[in-house]
Amino acid sequence: ISLKPYNTFGIDAKAEYFVSVTNIDDLKHILKLKEYPNKLILGGGSNMLLTKDFNGLVIHINLKGIEIVSDDEDFVYVKANAGENWHQFVIWCINNDFGGVENLSLIPGNVGTAPIQNIGAYGIELKDTFKSCEAISLENNELQTFTKTECDFGYRNSIFKQQAKGKFVITSVVFKLTKRNHKLNINYGTIASQLEAMKITNATIQDISKAVIAIRESKLPNPKEIGNSGSFFKNPVISKAHFNNLVENFKDIPSYPVNDDEVKVPAGWLIEKAGFKGKRFGDYGVHKNQALVLVNYGNAKGLDILNLSKLIQKTIKRLFDISIEAEVNIL
Ligand code: EPU
Repeated sequence: ISLKPYNTFGIDAKAEYFVSVTNIDDLKHILKLKEYPNKLILGGGSNMLLTKDFNGLVIHINLKGIEIVSDDEDFVYVKANAGENWHQFVIWCINNDFGGVENLSLIPGNVGTAPIQNIGAYGIELKDTFKSCEAISLENNELQTFTKTECDFGYRNSIFKQQAKGKFVITSVVFKLTKRNHKLNINYGTIASQLEAMKITNATIQDISKAVIAIRESKLPNPKEIGNSGSFFKNPVISKAHFNNLVENFKDIPSYPVNDDEVKVPAGWLIEKAGFKGKRFGDYGVHKNQALVLVNYGNAKGLDILNLSKLIQKTIKRLFDISIEAEVNIL
């Protein structure tokens, strides 16, 4: 079957076998099947670039359900199953007035894949509300709980991209959300100005969600209209010495502090400076409003996009002596 509807890049790669799983017992059973040695776990398909057909079994994680597991005066613990759409989950929280994920509105993908790369936007990361997750071990077929510490979250990173890579299937996540005294995060530059433009003074989590949605819609292409995977690259971290050298030639280069010796530079700026922003090559290219996003206008091949990403990496290396790393998983 074609995986086109199952990846937000809209790449028409084929799977030899495909199954959509709606409960844990079925999932455990399928993961044990020896007849299909090659298995690919598929969540929301929002963070991968398919560069070839998959010769094996694609397992679509379609576990649904959101429930409150416990609460106290200030907090509520909510368990969401892996196959829930991330944004639908955020909206569920907003409608119940549970705070903590409003800045993460409209991020494509599913709940179960969100911890893998510790999704983040507008000053908040998944880890800020993460309590624990459950995952099936591919080694012993048992469910195992991972605490926040065990997940070892970093910038677009976790144990599931490191030591535990390819060894577990996340089945559910528990979030710790606020029931009252919501901690609003409006410090991320564009949120405050967006709220102002919307004439909102005493912002609620509902307002913040609306502001984030407005900002994302203005900058980022909707995968339903133009195939994409959000940021294709991570923002690189470079030494301050390197940065100071660059400033001599590029006076307007932006940066964010990381620690005493390093700064983070927006890859989108580097790519724009390198002249790629809005460039279109037939059916694929670089988005016109956000250079960090590579897009498929229709029938692009995964390899076309991969080659474009390599050209961008090479150019950035040549111009700025910076290596930028793909954030998207290449398959
Ligand atoms: N910029 C440009 N040109 C561009 C894009 C960006 O010059 O075409 C510069 C501007 O200076 C801008 C700065 O980059 O001020 C930052 O841009 P933006 O606020 O759009 O954020 P980003 O660094 O490009 C990161 C995340 C996004 C997240 C936004 C908002 C990464 C890899 N990306 O992007 O996450 O939505 O911040 O918090 O960290 C994703 O991971 O898929 C994603 C979309």
